[in-house]
Amino acid sequence: MTDAAAMIRRAEPNDVQGILALLSELGAALPLADAEANLRAVLRDEAQVVMVAAATAGVVGCVHGTRVPLLRGGLTLQIFSLAVDAGRRRNGVARQLIAAIEAWGREHGCTLASARCNSQRDAAPQFWTAVGYENAKTQLAFRKKLAG
Ligand SMILES: CC(C)(COP(=O)(O)OP(=O)(O)OC[C@H]1O[C@@H](n2cnc3c(N)ncnc32)[C@H](O)[C@@H]1OP(=O)(O)O)[C@@H](O)C(=O)NCCC(=O)NCCS
Repeated sequence: MTDAAAMIRRAEPNDVQGILALLSELGAALPLADAEANLRAVLRDEAQVVMVAAATAGVVGCVHGTRVPLLRGGLTLQIFSLAVDAGRRRNGVARQLIAAIEAWGREHGCTLASARCNSQRDAAPQFWTAVGYENAKTQLAFRKKLAG
């Protein structure tokens, strides 16, 4: 079933509070000012896009994509920060968000889409399989702070 009340569109700067609430569902806790700065930077970059699912109550889903030229492949759409409000799940909102961001990727020359998901997440592996993604490998994720 599709959530008829949610419209998929490009994010705008004033969607930040809704997006921030969704990011917290992904475990990202950041101050509003930082979320505003991050969203502004992403929206300024034509290689990136944020799609939201907007309902009358506000933003109920979001996804961020960036197109990256890879040395070992063509232009790849990398997908991040997919989240749907807990009260709106299993209504096809994420499916619509992914369809929209894939369409953006195709329009911009991407030939591959990729997404990573935390193996501890309940629904995410089933979701990615349901929308046509193959689990290519299991990876470790290394990080290092470069500032601060
Ligand atoms: C994963 C998530 C984005 C899915 O959003 P959603 O809007 O509920 O997904 P959809 O309704 O579009 O689901 C599409 C299909 O995915 C599969 N799916 C989605 N959630 C599922 C679940 N909990 N269990 C099993 N399959 C599931 C189903 O096949 C579903 O189709 P169906 O409802 O017709 O059976 C959502 O659960 C979420 O925000 N989770 C927390 C954050 C997260 O894990 N994000 C992903 C990071 S990689």
